[in-house]
Amino acid sequence: MSKNVRKPFVAGNWKMNGSMSLVADFNEKLASVSAQADIVICSPATLLHGFNNSTFSIGAQNVSHLDNGAHTGELSVEMLKEAGCEYAIVGHSERREDQGESNTLVAQKAKKCVSEGITPIICVGESLDVREAGNVESFVAAQLDAVVEALSVEELSKTVVAYEPIWAIGTGKTASPQQAQEVHEFIRGYFEKVDADLAQGIRILYGGSVKPDNAETLFAQKDVDGGLIGGASLKAEDFISICQAAD
Ligand code: 13P
Repeated sequence: MSKNVRKPFVAGNWKMNGSMSLVADFNEKLASVSAQADIVICSPATLLHGFNNSTFSIGAQNVSHLDNGAHTGELSVEMLKEAGCEYAIVGHSERREDQGESNTLVAQKAKKCVSEGITPIICVGESLDVREAGNVESFVAAQLDAVVEALSVEELSKTVVAYEPIWAIGTGKTASPQQAQEVHEFIRGYFEKVDADLAQGIRILYGGSVKPDNAETLFAQKDVDGGLIGGASLKAEDFISICQAAD
C-alpha cells in the first residue's frame, strides 16, 4: 500500500490562544476552502461552541481519562462530543511537561477517546537532550509502548499519531524533512511489528514550526501524512495554505 491510501490530515492546535473573533474569522475564511485533507481545529474549550463550518472538524487539546464525576476542572469525552468535538489531542509535550502527564496516563486518555467514539491525536517526540544523546528511537518507542499495551489493534487503527520533536515546537527550528521522515519511518516500522495493516493505514503527522513555506516539503515525505500546526494555525491564511500543501 502506498502513501495514497492515507488521507492527508492537518490539525491546528491553538494552544491557550484565540478568541471568538478568531473563530469568526476561521468560519468565514475556511468556508470556501477546498482541500483534500481532513482539517481539524483544536481550539480552547471555551471557543468550541462558536465554530459553524462544515469544511473542518473541531477537536479538544486535552481530555480526561475518567467518566463524568467529581473531577474539578476536567472535561470528559462525553462533554467534548456534546460540544461537537470529533478529535482530542492527547499527550502534547506541553502537557507532559506542565502537568506531568505520564505515558500511562496518555495511553488511558487515548483509550477513553477511542472507546467513546472520538479520535485521539497522540503526541510523541523527544527533547533536544534526548536527540543529542542519540536516544530518539528508544524514547519515542517507550511513549508508543504504553499506547500499544493499552489499545487493541482495532482501537489503534482509530487513532492518529503526531511526531512533535520538542526542540522544534515554537522555536522556529523545524526538523529537516529528512529528520522528520527518519522518525516517521521508525514509527511506522514500530507499528508494522504490531500489525501490518495498522502500519499502512495509521496517519502520522509532523508538528514543530510548520509554516506555509516549509509545509510542502515536509508533507511530501513518504511517511509524513500531514501536520499538527501550532503558531501558524492562528492565522487563517497561513493555515489554509498549509492545508493546501497537504494535497
Ligand atoms: P508550533 O507550530 O508553534 O511549533 O507548535 C507545534 C505544536 O506544538 C502543535 O501541537
